[in-house]
Amino acid sequence: MARTRWTIGNWKQNLLRGAAEELATAVVSDLPEPVAEGGKQVRVGIAPSFVALDVLRPWVRPQGPLFLFAQNVAAQEEGAFTGEVGPDMLRDAGVHGAIVGHSERRTLFGETDTTVARKVKLALEADLRVVLCVGEGLEVRESGNHESFVISQLSAALSQLPHELMNERLILAYEPVWAIGTGKTATPRDAAAMHRSLRAWMEKHFGSAGADRSILYGGSVKPNNAAALMAVGDVDGFLVGGASLEAEAFLQIVRLVVSAA
Ligand code: 13P
Repeated sequence: MARTRWTIGNWKQNLLRGAAEELATAVVSDLPEPVAEGGKQVRVGIAPSFVALDVLRPWVRPQGPLFLFAQNVAAQEEGAFTGEVGPDMLRDAGVHGAIVGHSERRTLFGETDTTVARKVKLALEADLRVVLCVGEGLEVRESGNHESFVISQLSAALSQLPHELMNERLILAYEPVWAIGTGKTATPRDAAAMHRSLRAWMEKHFGSAGADRSILYGGSVKPNNAAALMAVGDVDGFLVGGASLEAEAFLQIVRLVVSAA
Protein backbone atom coordinates (compact mmCIF):
# COMPACT_ATOMS: atom_id res chain seq x y z
CA MET A 1 0.00 0.00 0.00
CA ALA A 2 1.27 3.47 -0.88
CA ARG A 3 2.39 5.56 2.05
CA THR A 4 0.12 8.38 3.14
CA ARG A 5 1.32 11.86 2.18
CA TRP A 6 0.98 14.64 4.70
CA THR A 7 1.36 18.40 4.68
CA ILE A 8 1.17 19.70 8.24
CA GLY A 9 1.35 23.36 9.21
CA ASN A 10 3.04 24.00 12.55
CA TRP A 11 1.88 27.46 13.52
CA LYS A 12 4.11 27.51 16.64
CA GLN A 13 3.43 30.38 19.09
CA ASN A 14 1.72 32.56 16.48
CA LEU A 15 -1.76 33.90 15.71
CA LEU A 16 -4.46 35.03 18.10
CA ARG A 17 -7.76 33.18 17.75
CA GLY A 18 -9.24 35.63 15.24
CA ALA A 19 -6.19 35.42 13.00
CA ALA A 20 -6.15 31.62 13.35
CA GLU A 21 -9.75 31.48 12.17
CA GLU A 22 -9.00 33.78 9.23
CA LEU A 23 -6.00 31.74 8.12
CA ALA A 24 -7.83 28.43 8.49
CA THR A 25 -10.77 29.79 6.47
CA ALA A 26 -8.44 30.94 3.70
CA VAL A 27 -6.64 27.57 3.61
CA VAL A 28 -9.79 25.48 3.62
CA SER A 29 -11.54 27.56 0.96
CA ASP A 30 -8.88 26.63 -1.58
CA LEU A 31 -7.71 23.16 -0.57
CA PRO A 32 -7.19 20.84 -3.54
CA GLU A 33 -8.87 17.45 -3.77
CA PRO A 34 -7.13 15.35 -1.15
CA VAL A 35 -6.26 12.46 -3.45
CA ALA A 36 -3.04 12.37 -5.42
CA GLU A 37 -2.71 10.82 -8.85
CA GLY A 38 -2.69 7.05 -8.68
CA GLY A 39 -5.04 7.10 -5.69
CA LYS A 40 -2.32 7.93 -3.16
CA GLN A 41 -3.80 9.12 0.08
CA VAL A 42 -3.00 12.75 0.89
CA ARG A 43 -3.79 14.46 4.18
CA VAL A 44 -3.51 18.00 5.44
CA GLY A 45 -3.03 18.88 9.09
CA ILE A 46 -2.77 22.05 11.13
CA ALA A 47 -1.12 22.42 14.52
CA PRO A 48 -2.32 25.72 16.07
CA SER A 49 -1.71 26.80 19.66
CA PHE A 50 -3.66 24.92 22.35
CA VAL A 51 -6.06 27.83 22.81
CA ALA A 52 -6.89 28.02 19.09
CA LEU A 53 -7.55 24.27 18.65
CA ASP A 54 -11.32 24.68 19.00
CA VAL A 55 -11.32 27.52 16.45
CA LEU A 56 -10.42 25.00 13.75
CA ARG A 57 -13.06 22.51 14.81
CA PRO A 58 -15.56 23.31 11.99
CA TRP A 59 -13.10 21.91 9.44
CA VAL A 60 -11.77 18.86 11.21
CA ARG A 61 -12.21 15.28 10.09
CA PRO A 62 -14.36 13.27 9.55
CA GLN A 63 -16.68 15.89 8.01
CA GLY A 64 -14.05 18.43 7.06
CA PRO A 65 -10.75 18.27 5.23
CA LEU A 66 -8.34 18.97 8.08
CA PHE A 67 -6.59 16.88 10.69
CA LEU A 68 -5.96 18.77 13.89
CA PHE A 69 -2.71 18.45 15.83
CA ALA A 70 -1.50 19.88 19.12
CA GLN A 71 2.09 21.11 19.20
CA ASN A 72 2.88 19.17 22.36
CA VAL A 73 1.38 16.63 24.78
CA ALA A 74 2.15 15.69 28.37
CA ALA A 75 4.48 12.83 29.25
CA GLN A 76 2.06 11.62 31.92
CA GLU A 77 -1.57 10.55 31.76
CA GLU A 78 -3.09 12.89 34.37
CA GLY A 79 -2.56 14.36 37.80
CA ALA A 80 -0.74 17.17 39.56
CA PHE A 81 1.24 18.50 36.60
CA THR A 82 0.48 22.21 36.40
CA GLY A 83 0.45 23.56 32.88
CA GLU A 84 0.36 20.19 31.13
CA VAL A 85 -2.25 18.88 28.69
CA GLY A 86 -2.60 15.11 28.63
CA PRO A 87 -3.30 12.78 25.70
CA ASP A 88 -6.85 11.96 26.83
CA MET A 89 -7.61 15.67 27.14
CA LEU A 90 -6.50 16.20 23.55
CA ARG A 91 -8.58 13.31 22.27
CA ASP A 92 -11.55 14.54 24.28
CA ALA A 93 -11.13 17.96 22.63
CA GLY A 94 -11.42 16.38 19.18
CA VAL A 95 -7.72 16.63 18.39
CA HIS A 96 -6.28 13.93 16.13
CA GLY A 97 -2.68 13.99 17.20
CA ALA A 98 0.31 15.82 18.59
CA ILE A 99 3.75 16.89 17.49
CA VAL A 100 6.28 15.27 19.83
CA GLY A 101 9.98 15.99 20.28
CA HIS A 102 10.17 19.12 18.14
CA SER A 103 13.69 20.54 18.33
CA GLU A 104 12.37 23.75 19.89
CA ARG A 105 10.98 21.69 22.77
CA ARG A 106 14.20 19.72 23.08
CA THR A 107 16.58 22.68 22.95
CA LEU A 108 14.54 25.51 24.51
CA PHE A 109 12.49 23.54 27.06
CA GLY A 110 14.90 20.76 27.97
CA GLU A 111 12.92 17.80 26.65
CA THR A 112 15.03 14.68 26.87
CA ASP A 113 14.92 11.49 24.82
CA THR A 114 13.30 9.78 27.82
CA THR A 115 10.50 12.35 27.97
CA VAL A 116 9.99 12.11 24.23
CA ALA A 117 9.76 8.31 24.45
CA ARG A 118 7.10 8.53 27.17
CA LYS A 119 5.08 11.04 25.18
CA VAL A 120 5.19 8.91 22.03
CA LYS A 121 3.99 5.83 23.90
CA LEU A 122 1.24 7.53 25.93
CA ALA A 123 -0.12 9.47 22.96
CA LEU A 124 -0.26 6.39 20.72
CA GLU A 125 -1.88 4.39 23.53
CA ALA A 126 -4.52 7.14 23.72
CA ASP A 127 -5.22 6.63 19.99
CA LEU A 128 -3.71 9.93 18.99
CA ARG A 129 -1.49 10.37 15.97
CA VAL A 130 2.09 11.35 16.74
CA VAL A 131 4.37 13.43 14.55
CA LEU A 132 7.72 12.44 16.02
CA CYS A 133 10.44 14.95 15.18
CA VAL A 134 14.13 14.10 14.96
CA GLY A 135 17.01 16.15 13.60
CA GLU A 136 20.58 17.21 14.19
CA GLY A 137 22.05 20.61 14.99
CA LEU A 138 24.67 22.37 12.89
CA GLU A 139 27.64 21.14 14.93
CA VAL A 140 26.59 17.54 14.55
CA ARG A 141 26.02 18.01 10.81
CA GLU A 142 29.46 19.57 10.41
CA SER A 143 31.09 16.77 12.41
CA GLY A 144 29.69 14.29 9.90
CA ASN A 145 27.91 12.24 12.62
CA HIS A 146 24.41 13.36 11.65
CA GLU A 147 23.08 9.97 10.59
CA SER A 148 24.09 8.15 13.75
CA PHE A 149 22.87 11.07 15.87
CA VAL A 150 19.42 11.12 14.28
CA ILE A 151 19.09 7.35 14.35
CA SER A 152 19.93 7.35 18.05
CA GLN A 153 17.19 9.96 18.64
CA LEU A 154 14.73 7.77 16.75
CA SER A 155 15.79 4.63 18.53
CA ALA A 156 15.46 6.32 21.94
CA ALA A 157 12.05 7.79 21.09
CA LEU A 158 10.67 4.39 20.09
CA SER A 159 12.44 2.41 22.79
CA GLN A 160 9.30 2.04 24.94
CA LEU A 161 6.94 1.33 22.08
CA PRO A 162 5.31 -2.09 21.91
CA HIS A 163 5.24 -3.45 18.35
CA GLU A 164 1.44 -3.43 18.23
CA LEU A 165 1.49 0.38 18.47
CA MET A 166 3.60 0.66 15.32
CA ASN A 167 0.91 1.67 12.86
CA GLU A 168 -0.20 4.51 10.61
CA ARG A 169 -0.78 6.75 13.62
CA LEU A 170 2.95 7.24 13.90
CA ILE A 171 4.37 9.81 11.48
CA LEU A 172 8.06 10.71 11.46
CA ALA A 173 9.48 14.12 10.65
CA TYR A 174 13.14 14.77 9.88
CA GLU A 175 13.83 18.39 10.77
CA PRO A 176 17.50 19.37 10.69
CA VAL A 177 17.75 22.05 13.37
CA TRP A 178 20.08 24.19 11.23
CA ALA A 179 17.33 24.44 8.58
CA ILE A 180 14.49 25.53 10.88
CA GLY A 181 13.49 29.16 10.43
CA THR A 182 16.87 29.96 8.89
CA GLY A 183 16.01 29.92 5.21
CA LYS A 184 18.57 27.11 4.78
CA THR A 185 17.07 23.89 3.51
CA ALA A 186 18.64 20.47 3.37
CA THR A 187 19.43 19.67 -0.24
CA PRO A 188 17.24 16.98 -1.76
CA ARG A 189 20.34 14.77 -1.58
CA ASP A 190 20.81 15.39 2.17
CA ALA A 191 17.13 14.72 2.77
CA ALA A 192 17.17 11.60 0.60
CA ALA A 193 20.12 10.12 2.48
CA MET A 194 18.61 10.76 5.91
CA HIS A 195 15.11 9.59 5.00
CA ARG A 196 16.57 6.42 3.49
CA SER A 197 18.50 5.70 6.71
CA LEU A 198 15.44 6.36 8.86
CA ARG A 199 13.31 4.01 6.77
CA ALA A 200 15.97 1.31 6.77
CA TRP A 201 16.19 1.51 10.58
CA MET A 202 12.40 1.35 10.87
CA GLU A 203 12.27 -1.73 8.67
CA LYS A 204 15.07 -3.45 10.55
CA HIS A 205 13.38 -2.92 13.92
CA PHE A 206 9.67 -3.03 13.11
CA GLY A 207 9.47 -4.86 9.78
CA SER A 208 7.00 -3.63 7.17
CA ALA A 209 4.91 -1.93 9.89
CA GLY A 210 7.92 0.32 10.43
CA ALA A 211 8.99 0.71 6.81
CA ASP A 212 5.53 1.89 5.74
CA ARG A 213 5.47 4.94 8.02
CA SER A 214 5.23 8.37 6.44
CA ILE A 215 8.46 10.35 6.84
CA LEU A 216 8.05 14.11 6.44
CA TYR A 217 10.75 16.69 5.91
CA GLY A 218 10.74 20.00 7.81
CA GLY A 219 13.02 23.03 7.78
CA SER A 220 12.43 26.16 5.66
CA VAL A 221 10.07 24.36 3.27
CA LYS A 222 8.70 26.91 0.81
CA PRO A 223 6.77 26.74 -2.46
CA ASN A 224 10.05 27.13 -4.35
CA ASN A 225 11.84 24.14 -2.83
CA ALA A 226 8.99 21.74 -2.07
CA ALA A 227 8.84 20.13 -5.52
CA ALA A 228 12.53 19.18 -5.53
CA LEU A 229 12.24 17.72 -2.01
CA MET A 230 9.08 15.79 -2.92
CA ALA A 231 10.92 14.27 -5.86
CA VAL A 232 13.12 12.44 -3.35
CA GLY A 233 11.73 8.93 -3.06
CA ASP A 234 11.52 8.67 0.71
CA VAL A 235 9.98 12.10 1.40
CA ASP A 236 6.26 11.67 2.07
CA GLY A 237 5.37 15.32 2.63
CA PHE A 238 6.26 18.22 4.90
CA LEU A 239 6.05 19.73 8.34
CA VAL A 240 5.90 23.43 7.51
CA GLY A 241 6.62 26.30 9.92
CA GLY A 242 6.89 29.86 8.58
CA ALA A 243 5.29 29.21 5.19
CA SER A 244 2.20 27.69 6.87
CA LEU A 245 1.38 31.15 8.26
CA GLU A 246 0.54 32.39 4.75
CA ALA A 247 -2.46 30.72 3.17
CA GLU A 248 -1.23 30.90 -0.41
CA ALA A 249 2.27 29.64 0.37
CA PHE A 250 0.88 26.73 2.41
CA LEU A 251 -1.66 25.90 -0.30
CA GLN A 252 1.04 25.88 -2.97
CA ILE A 253 3.02 23.40 -0.89
CA VAL A 254 -0.09 21.23 -0.41
CA ARG A 255 -0.68 21.25 -4.19
CA LEU A 256 2.90 20.17 -4.82
CA VAL A 257 2.53 17.32 -2.37
CA VAL A 258 -0.73 16.25 -4.02
CA SER A 259 0.60 16.40 -7.56
CA ALA A 260 4.11 14.95 -7.01
CA ALA A 261 4.65 11.74 -8.95
P1 13P B 1 10.26 26.55 9.25
O1 13P B 1 9.47 25.99 8.09
O2 13P B 1 9.83 27.91 9.66
O3 13P B 1 11.73 26.42 9.03
O4 13P B 1 9.93 25.62 10.52
C1 13P B 1 10.04 24.25 10.40
C2 13P B 1 9.48 23.61 11.61
O5 13P B 1 10.04 23.71 12.69
C3 13P B 1 8.21 22.89 11.48
O6 13P B 1 7.94 22.16 12.63
